[in-house]
Amino acid sequence: MSHAIRKIGLLTSGGDAPGMNAAIRAVVLTAAAQGIEVLGFKHGFNGIFNSEIQPLSRPEVLHIIQHGGTVLKSARCKQLQEVGGPEKAATILNHLGIDALIVIGGDGSFRGCQAIAKFYQGQIVGIPGTIDNDVDGTDFTIGFATAVDTALDALDKIRDTADAFERIFLVEVMGRHTGYLALAAGIASGAEQIICPEYGPVDVIDLQNDIRQMQQQYGNGSYIVVIAETMYPAGATALAAELTAATGTECRACVLGHMQRGGSPVGSDRILATKLGAFAVEQLLLGNAHLMMAGELSGLARLFPLSLTGDKKKQPDGYLLDWQQRLLQDSHQI
Ligand code: F6P
Repeated sequence: MSHAIRKIGLLTSGGDAPGMNAAIRAVVLTAAAQGIEVLGFKHGFNGIFNSEIQPLSRPEVLHIIQHGGTVLKSARCKQLQEVGGPEKAATILNHLGIDALIVIGGDGSFRGCQAIAKFYQGQIVGIPGTIDNDVDGTDFTIGFATAVDTALDALDKIRDTADAFERIFLVEVMGRHTGYLALAAGIASGAEQIICPEYGPVDVIDLQNDIRQMQQQYGNGSYIVVIAETMYPAGATALAAELTAATGTECRACVLGHMQRGGSPVGSDRILATKLGAFAVEQLLLGNAHLMMAGELSGLARLFPLSLTGDKKKQPDGYLLDWQQRLLQDSHQI
């Protein structure tokens, strides 16, 4: 049974992620096929407050699937956090006659959705888009797979120069408070160490000992540590200086930073984005999706309550976490 939806609002919010454009395209094409109008808000939720509205139909989403970033622009929104902000946003949406709002972003953006929902007459649905992959209710977020490949490309290049100079490298990856990116990029690059929140705080003495042990057993060579941002308060460069002094081997830091957010989305991100964008619109039409996120679990598109997306119950693959730790212990003891 089709729910009376004539106009959908759409925005991208928070850290942009490769594949957001693919999700925008899927929403617009699925809506257009049902004769539904889509109004894009620019710069995240700010576009609602500032009336930055861009009507989106088939021509506007032509050939955007391959582009990183987001044609709607993204931002975090202070106004939404102010007293009266959510109510004001809801009032504007109601006045514009928007029957449903779709927000592509992470769990922070979904908290904004829940605040607005208290005053809004329409349905709100989320689509998970962040390179961090730290959203409960979906196995993967849009952008994560591309960010892993981007980090990996950099790590493989760093390995060449690290090997040539027999240096230690600390490569800092993003991921805010979780280690999805660090673990995936570290495993796939064959890094000697991975430092991420799931393994606990950095033990600099342990790290120094491990490097020395590796050098004694295998001679000098490259040694790459993938370190998640926020794991060493003074920063990766300070840790590199400490390790150089302690081990007598040159250690360099390389912070990959925002380059991990850019670039053309890999195939799996485009496909995930297309699936979730289409699913979000179809579930809205069925009236099922209010305050839900359209995610993917075990390969199937699924709805998950927005209120639970920030619970941080999802964890990086436990098997890989254990395996990596055992591997390091074994290989360093040979
Ligand atoms: O949430 C995505 C993310 O790229 C995090 O990995 C990172 O901690 C944060 O955003 C950086 O935010 P900003 O672009 O505001 O510096």
